[in-house]
Amino acid sequence: MISTLNTASAIALEEKYNAHNYHPLSVVLSRGEGVYLWDIEGKRYYDFLSAYSAVNQGHCHPRIIAAMTEQAQKLTLTSRAFYNDKLGEYAEYITRFFGYDRVLPMNTGVEGGETAIKLCRKWGYTVKGIPKNEAKIIFVKNNFWGRTLAAVSSSTDANSYNDYGPFMTGFEIINYNDLDALKIALEDKNVAGFMLEPIQGEAGVVVPDEGYLKKAYQMCKEKNVLFIADEVQTGLARTGKMLACDYENVQPDILILGKALSGGTMPVSAVLANDEVMLTLKPGQHGSTYGGNPLACAVATTSLQILKDEKLAENAFDLGNIFRERMEKLIQKTNVITKVRGKGLLNAIVVNDSEEGNLAWNLCEGFKEKGLLAKPTHGNIIRFAPPLVINEEQLDECCHIIETTILNF
Ligand SMILES: Cc1ncc(COP(=O)(O)O)c(C=O)c1O
Repeated sequence: MISTLNTASAIALEEKYNAHNYHPLSVVLSRGEGVYLWDIEGKRYYDFLSAYSAVNQGHCHPRIIAAMTEQAQKLTLTSRAFYNDKLGEYAEYITRFFGYDRVLPMNTGVEGGETAIKLCRKWGYTVKGIPKNEAKIIFVKNNFWGRTLAAVSSSTDANSYNDYGPFMTGFEIINYNDLDALKIALEDKNVAGFMLEPIQGEAGVVVPDEGYLKKAYQMCKEKNVLFIADEVQTGLARTGKMLACDYENVQPDILILGKALSGGTMPVSAVLANDEVMLTLKPGQHGSTYGGNPLACAVATTSLQILKDEKLAENAFDLGNIFRERMEKLIQKTNVITKVRGKGLLNAIVVNDSEEGNLAWNLCEGFKEKGLLAKPTHGNIIRFAPPLVINEEQLDECCHIIETTILNF
């Protein structure tokens, strides 16, 4: 069927038939390659969101598409009722890659979070000896790990949790980047785990103080509490290291990965842990029809290989420094933005506006006109997360678009 859609008609269709659970920018994309996206009328854009860091390897990376196509022609799904010839190889690869005994494969990032919490509770009861149904998990304010009922039960964003109660119990929420609050929370002997993002992505790329992760990890160890890192957005080279926790040499007890584990081609997530934690789960106690399917295994293995082969963490580290330097200089020349923050190529600028204002939205519309796609998060913050295959020349062009748009405002 030849599509006769244009931007207006494609948007109208989606608005009419789709649930209204997103508020997209008015651009309809139909093709992607590397750092670029094209809209339905053929206009080219730099992608500065990378599907919330899922497309670290760039759109339609030829090696991922080749691995995917090859595997798709052989075998895609068997369910875990039977063994398949890809899962074992992938499990060995990813566990060695990150230095864990075992992996539990799932699909979406939020399922990874759910899995981590179940694992942590199970460990809490069967290893730590917490009395039945008394286990607690500590979260931090402004966390985001999805919108399932468990995720919104730990959320401090009213838009996420309002009207969805009753909520899951056994969750405690403390301030992010607050070791004193953690110390108090850890006094409770029923705490099984502490779950956090090493940099808060959706909250607006909030980077904690240097040393926070390391100290928090040590405090958890002292209290026999599992340190759970949600690296669904920060992981896989995005922040200039393979994991954001690597900046502080922290090896989380439970590591959650997703998004770029498939380079943006299909939902693939993974939870990694050592035997003491992972072997608490017995057959039938957790799983997913698609988790560990051969297609996902082939895609994820190649997606990980590319991060290393193309030195994407190193590229993110170097270009991230250049990007923040350019934005710091811009801040000297304008009062439209007040701050830039981030690590590697996970960055955000804070726009001089209230959270309810629409300056950030208008700026994103302006970037779009000039060929760059980004989106506000939390009203007055704009996140910038291009595919990590971006080169210096392309980054220079993107900085130029951002600078001229902001200076013309
Ligand atoms: C840190 C973090 N964890 C978990 C998730 C949920 O991932 P998914 O949307 O694949 O379920 C997200 C999504 O943005 C995220 O940023």
